[in-house]
Amino acid sequence: MTIVITGATGHLGRQVVEQLLARGVDPSTVVAGGRNEEALAALASHGVRTARIDYSDPSTLDDAFAGAEKVLLISGSEVGKRSVQHKAVIDAARRVDASLVYTSAPKASTSALVLAPEHKATEGLLEGSGLTYTVLRNNWYTENYDDTIRQAASTGSILTSAGRGRVASATRRDYAEAAAVVLLSDDYAGEILELGGDEPWSVDELASVVADVQGNDVTVEQVSTDQHVAALQGFGLDEGTAGFVAAIDANIADGLLAESDGTLSRIIGRPTTPLRQYVAELLG
Ligand SMILES: NC(=O)c1ccc[n+]([C@@H]2O[C@H](COP(=O)([O-])OP(=O)(O)OC[C@H]3O[C@@H](n4cnc5c(N)ncnc54)[C@H](OP(=O)(O)O)[C@@H]3O)[C@@H](O)[C@H]2O)c1
Repeated sequence: MTIVITGATGHLGRQVVEQLLARGVDPSTVVAGGRNEEALAALASHGVRTARIDYSDPSTLDDAFAGAEKVLLISGSEVGKRSVQHKAVIDAARRVDASLVYTSAPKASTSALVLAPEHKATEGLLEGSGLTYTVLRNNWYTENYDDTIRQAASTGSILTSAGRGRVASATRRDYAEAAAVVLLSDDYAGEILELGGDEPWSVDELASVVADVQGNDVTVEQVSTDQHVAALQGFGLDEGTAGFVAAIDANIADGLLAESDGTLSRIIGRPTTPLRQYVAELLG
């Protein structure tokens, strides 16, 4: 069986490749795709085949997908272009009749999450594609908070507009293991899996974990969305990025990332990485 991993040059995709190999998959049956040539060369050193894949260039998809039975479509990072790019990947998978696994977002088809629309569009394309597919609705990466955790440790404060909202984050490693398990099984065909960490946490809880690990005080400054945008711009973020970050916090405050039903830990056969363990490892 040949498995193609798109976005294998990125943080998540590289770990999916590693997880497949850790499960004894013959490297010659794995095609790791992406655009970054340096990252492709690093992947090739693991013995896997590599392919230039550009979601905006269908010929690269046809070349990479030749002989593929399964394709992991890791959602692209060019927000605003992704629906069209993902359609190209789905169309190419149809041409070789590969089954497809797609990394989406929590409750993508119904959520008001600012990032949901392109994932909803992609899931809609999959539904109408006739392909066998599985959707991995990944919640937030715990890694998204690396800067926040480091700053909390060094400055003793966290600025947020997420209120008491909880985040069911898990590490990329947790999600990568789940992707590998799903790719290597036919049991998940047709399923839409909501994946998140076992213990959703609030910013207050994050502050308390950092304080415990670091041995300092960490205070949480709760601000409104507008105040947050202004503060982020004051730190040098452009208006669009500041607005996006604050919009995500507003989504968190509304509870849009709060739910987790244990599906991720069931798939990987262990609890998801606890926040405290993650923070302790990050802060060394
Ligand atoms: N759940 C979350 O918290 C969260 C957070 C951030 C992102 N995401 C989503 O999850 C995806 C994977 O996360 P990550 O951390 O691995 O992101 P990442 O490190 O930024 O990797 C993104 C990957 O997508 C590939 N890519 C982007 N545009 C492409 C295009 N037009 N054609 C071909 N490949 C393209 C990149 O390839 P090259 O670098 O080789 O061009 C790279 O391999 C992201 O792309 C994004 O959709 C989720």
